[in-house]
Amino acid sequence: MADMNTLLKDKIAEAQQIVYAYLPAVEGYQRTCLEAMEYSVHSPGKRIRPILMLETYRMFGGTSKVIEPFMAALEFIHSYSLVHDDLPAMDNDDYRRGQLTTHKKYGESMGILAGDALLNYAYEVAAGAFELVLEDESVSPFHVAKSLQILGKKAGIYGMVGGQVVDVEKEGQSLDLATIDFIYRLKTGALLECAMMIGATLANASDKDVHIMEEIATKVGIAFQIQDDILDITSTTEVLGKPVGSDEKNNKETYASKVGIEKAKEEVQRLTDEAIALMDGLDYKNDFLRELLIWMIHREK
Ligand code: IPE
Ligand code: IPE
Ligand code: MG
Ligand code: MG
Ligand code: MG
Repeated sequence: MADMNTLLKDKIAEAQQIVYAYLPAVEGYQRTCLEAMEYSVHSPGKRIRPILMLETYRMFGGTSKVIEPFMAALEFIHSYSLVHDDLPAMDNDDYRRGQLTTHKKYGESMGILAGDALLNYAYEVAAGAFELVLEDESVSPFHVAKSLQILGKKAGIYGMVGGQVVDVEKEGQSLDLATIDFIYRLKTGALLECAMMIGATLANASDKDVHIMEEIATKVGIAFQIQDDILDITSTTEVLGKPVGSDEKNNKETYASKVGIEKAKEEVQRLTDEAIALMDGLDYKNDFLRELLIWMIHREK
């Protein structure tokens, strides 16, 4: 396989082209908000979630364009989650992906509204997948409906939002490992589960395989968040593109601050090894996806 960084660059470009195509035109009386939405999505993210979705879809043999509106919808939801996460009432951070956070650039009310708009627009775009049912007989309306349900569940109170609730509510408190596990599974794991479950579902994978993809993504999600916490302590703002020390500033106990960097690194490796073992047990293969899971925990930003 070619060098991971080169490969990933191409995959990011591919995902970005798909996601950007679904952004609404910046025009009309509400154009400031539309511009803020575009600003939030266009800023240089890693695009991990749409890439995981597309590569899971490919692994299970999917070939239709039905995956594309779901890739866009998930990245829009991820973008909104970051815009709101950075607000003064949440983590109060001024930089994201090397540029001003959306509320710093457009003001707090526009930050809130751009997040709201991205969230709603995500479902508008995803529901558009039903139109493909008419054009492409390989696309099942049942799988599209199922995928919408996964998107709603994993983004909402039983997913990302639920994790953020506990994350902010427990600020300033000492957390036991079970609570940290709950927060990470939901605030970060859920959107990765969403990516891999929708990729598998739309490619007509069996219920059993969809469930295995969910398990893989849970492990990778927790590892991904622990790595995010480690980088919050050990990296620099230049490399990370977002302020380091954000967790300490907000008196947030993280897995890394609780057990120490070395133990946290071991846990990241252990969870990833388990995820890879599950991947290797499937009847389907995608070497790039396998390498991507490993890359995600060795990333520097
Ligand atoms: C940041 O996610 C928030 C976490 C869940 C740790 P990413 O690390 O995927 O952020 P971008 O999209 O690449 O900026
Ligand atoms: C992010 O957790 C989880 C989200 C759902 C946005 P963090 O608050 O640690 O993410 P960063 O470090 O700001 O990207
Ligand atoms: Mg946060
Ligand atoms: Mg934050
Ligand atoms: Mg963080």
